[in-house]
Amino acid sequence: MLKTTFGQSKTGETISLYSFENAKQMKMVLTDFGAILTQLWVPDKEGNLKDVVLGFDTLAEYEVNPTYFGAIIGRSCNRIENGTFKINDISYQLKKNEGENSLHSGPEGYHLRIWKVIETTDNSITFKLDSPNGDQGYPGQLTLEVTYQLTETGIKITYTGHTDQTTIFNPTNHTYFNLNGHSSGTVLEHKLELKAQKFTPVIDSSSIPTGEIIAVKDTPMDFTTAKKVGVDIDSDYDQLNFTAGYDHNYILDKNIDYFVKMVGDKTNIVMKAATNLAGVQFYTGNFIDKLLGKENKLYQNHEGLCLETQFYPNSINETNFVSPILEKDEIRIYWTTYDFSIE
Ligand code: GLA
Repeated sequence: MLKTTFGQSKTGETISLYSFENAKQMKMVLTDFGAILTQLWVPDKEGNLKDVVLGFDTLAEYEVNPTYFGAIIGRSCNRIENGTFKINDISYQLKKNEGENSLHSGPEGYHLRIWKVIETTDNSITFKLDSPNGDQGYPGQLTLEVTYQLTETGIKITYTGHTDQTTIFNPTNHTYFNLNGHSSGTVLEHKLELKAQKFTPVIDSSSIPTGEIIAVKDTPMDFTTAKKVGVDIDSDYDQLNFTAGYDHNYILDKNIDYFVKMVGDKTNIVMKAATNLAGVQFYTGNFIDKLLGKENKLYQNHEGLCLETQFYPNSINETNFVSPILEKDEIRIYWTTYDFSIE
């Protein structure tokens, strides 16, 4: 592990970068600001290393990070309708930061926090965040530990949550992948297989789920057989019109060894992901909208895509969805792996 200084935060703290390499020369780089994955280098078909995640070169840009590049999102990712919910008959109100709704838990997200590094090993780092009772509007003191491990074939992210009062615990990682390399154009030619026969449709462009669970079959949402990401993205289909591309929660099939397989068309880099969570937000970077990224690359829409494993959006308010509740004194562990190979 190599530790270097990333910069000084606005609040005057020294922020670090932590870099890990494995035997295949894969390299993962993280920062304690936002517990963000800033770089992930993977060998392509010629053995050349490609950085397959979008990001910024400077800490100052991560202190704004409007796209949530590489960050841990919490206490609850995705949307909560009207920013409000009830737990044990008590109503709670979060700040609204996307129209009438709360997105990624409002303006004081965990992606903007300075995390404590509590453990490092040759191939892993554990970040810790103590989120007090009332933080962002949620009940209960939540302790969250996130471990990133560089395995022999990729990365594993593990989330451990503990609370002293019943609360919501729905973290994710918001990495944007581009398997051709972060500065190589759009991901629309990537081939994608998503083992999900169902998804949760949204009511309109606010992206709040209707509460229904419907089949992808015979719709442009269907990736159960591999197809190019962009092949149906411009279909005149309500769900895609609402969100200007894919930005939907898919319900992962049961008993699968991976939920996604994606191939970079220029590099032949294959990524397979697995998780113990039930849903994934598949988001094709529809709102990147010209943002200066690493190595002075001007990122445009669809130049990266996210596979955010999670409880379904607004699940705290939908009786039809699995509840994201963490009970007092319970310890919950969620994990997601992203593995790389060449095809
Ligand atoms: C999530 C949402 C998207 C978008 C991004 C951040 O993936 O579903 O609509 O807000 O976060 O830009």
